[in-house]
Amino acid sequence: MTPTDRVEELREQIRHHECLYYGLDAPAISDAAFDALTRELKDLEAEHPELVTTDSPTQRVGGKPKEGFAKVAHSRPMLSLDNVNSEEELRDWDRRVHELASSPRNGEKSGDIRYTTELKLDGLSLALHYQPEKPGEAGADGPSRLVGALTRGDGTIGEDVTTNVRTIRSVPLSLSAARLQAAGLPRTFEVRGEVVMPISAFLRLNEEREAQGLSPAANPRNAAAGTIRTLEPNVVAQRRLDFYAYFALENGETILPGQVETLDALAAAGFRVNPHREALATVEDLIAFIKRAEQQRADLGYEIDGVVIKVDSTAQQLRLGFTGRAPRWAVAYKFTARSAVTRVDDIRVQVGRTGKLTPVAVLSPVSIGGTTVSRATLHNADEIARLGLRIGDTVLVERGGDVIPKVVEVAPDTSEDEKHPRERREFHFPSACPVCGSEVVRAQGEADYRCVNVDCPARLRESLLHFASRGVMNIEGLGEAVVSQLMERKLVASVADLYGLDEEDLRSLQHTVFRKDKKSGEIEEKVQALLGPKDRRALLNEIERSKQTPLNRVLFGLGIRFVGDKTAQLLAEEFGSLDALMNASAEQLEHVNEVGPRVSQALRDFFDEPRNRELVERLRQVGLTFTAEKKQRSSQLEGLTFVLTGTLPCLSREDAKARIEAAGGRISGSVSKKTNYLVAGDDVGSKLEKAVSLGLPVIDEAELLKLLG
Ligand code: IVH
Repeated sequence: MTPTDRVEELREQIRHHECLYYGLDAPAISDAAFDALTRELKDLEAEHPELVTTDSPTQRVGGKPKEGFAKVAHSRPMLSLDNVNSEEELRDWDRRVHELASSPRNGEKSGDIRYTTELKLDGLSLALHYQPEKPGEAGADGPSRLVGALTRGDGTIGEDVTTNVRTIRSVPLSLSAARLQAAGLPRTFEVRGEVVMPISAFLRLNEEREAQGLSPAANPRNAAAGTIRTLEPNVVAQRRLDFYAYFALENGETILPGQVETLDALAAAGFRVNPHREALATVEDLIAFIKRAEQQRADLGYEIDGVVIKVDSTAQQLRLGFTGRAPRWAVAYKFTARSAVTRVDDIRVQVGRTGKLTPVAVLSPVSIGGTTVSRATLHNADEIARLGLRIGDTVLVERGGDVIPKVVEVAPDTSEDEKHPRERREFHFPSACPVCGSEVVRAQGEADYRCVNVDCPARLRESLLHFASRGVMNIEGLGEAVVSQLMERKLVASVADLYGLDEEDLRSLQHTVFRKDKKSGEIEEKVQALLGPKDRRALLNEIERSKQTPLNRVLFGLGIRFVGDKTAQLLAEEFGSLDALMNASAEQLEHVNEVGPRVSQALRDFFDEPRNRELVERLRQVGLTFTAEKKQRSSQLEGLTFVLTGTLPCLSREDAKARIEAAGGRISGSVSKKTNYLVAGDDVGSKLEKAVSLGLPVIDEAELLKLLG
């Protein structure tokens, strides 16, 4: 093959995999294999500079914008909202809206106002631009594609973050003309909405950051904003951001006659639209919506900081207009802050299952959003230094969703404080483990101190609790109280000892029970009670059942550094058995997606340690099966028949066919009543007509990939 041919071939392959990876978030090859292709192309281009073209994937550095982000003007300014903080202020606002809308000049009566209520998502706003592939040219029925995504910036000029936004699954990359028409949207249009980081993704991100010795992100909004502005699209792809649409514009103007219609149209077109939305007319109804939203807040899975109320009618919006920086036709009802000021009474140090020492602030109890908070994490010694925190300081504490409360700021000394000086003490990080007294060390480049004693009781206790937890062996009944007593009585000194327990061992143990009010069923108090015969048998049954826990979970339960549930899952899938994994070389380990030198070293360190091998052996002897779950892939399309038509954006015909068949599906050349799905790309022919006439489901490539998982 000539270099010219090979260069072309490589470019095609790289584009294909970029499309799968960045566009559809469905990579088909490992990062290492992708890098190898790029490297080969780069080398060839270096040898033959005459072959370099501007559209070569090497010129984008793997989809990465080279430096910063381009600045682009918005079609119309992205404004902010005025806030109201109480029912009274909301009533005033509603009155003003009615007055302005009903002024004689407008000939409108006050009763005519209808509102749309939405949640105020706590993320950052984005403007997405869609247009048909080749505007002007033929393409009368070609799809509209995402051509630009801008951050709010200063409101007038935003930053072009398209490459990153393309990795967000809930942002459609292409929308068929038919779908847009059915939704009542033009083919060239703009969507505005909010990008948020789900709380689960936020917690995971912070776990990772902590494992890497980095300081944690302050809240999901900052994490989302930071993510959207990173220069690494593949990092963005891993962070699982979500986009919720709320406006549809054409040349900067609202397209549809009302906000409710806009939200429905966006949903019909395939955008994610927040389901918590209502059309309401009276202030009483608005207040009821706000109260409901406040109650739902903790269970949403993402952060909201209020409710947005918009005048529904576009015509009325135009009449009401804007004040300097915000529309008169919309307002944000802000929830009470999720933060409070209190005093740090003490700082204690906890020891985790990896031996990590975490400082925790003991607070004068304070109520934040209805929950009493008396502890807040301080993460590590650097964080205490960064805050300049001393014991006795007054601090601002924040709590969000199910995020652990944390100290965000130390209040400056006030004059009142000077008159009544309060005792403040510097906190010195302990040089010995507060639980076992062993030495603590801080590895180079890491933020955390660790207890060096592998037998530290705190480590054992936390390891047992982790092992028994829901996401791992799921041993119900093995909570903090029982674990502590098992350790005190020297019945358990390793997770393997759990499997040697008998009824006699459990006889004198106490557990925490909740005494409920007989009538109302409400919890009255927590009490300690002896484990009854039923409880003892139930616990032993739970332990017995846990022997069948699949390999990936056991692996997670072993508490190997950097091996979280996801990595454990990938490792179990790749190696299939614990023995294969234990004996794998660093090279074999790094073959697994997401396993780099750091993780492979941690795995090698763990399995090279004789004590750990011994532990695994004991677990095997007591009956753990370590069974690997089958890869989910093979059969999810079993019994389904697909027909392909047109050119798909990423996959070639052969690829699509191979993937469908690998998942158990069947490919047929013609559409019939037996067809389950028609997969349609661009330039489709008569197959589409036939499928539509038969009422068969027609899906695009993205939907096919979703089916393929
Ligand atoms: S409407 C001019 N709707 O809140 C209209 N904004 O404080 C402004 N936000 O910059 C946007 N959820 O980032 C609207 N359902 C929602 C929203 C929302 C969150 C954000 C948005 C905006 C900020 C204004």
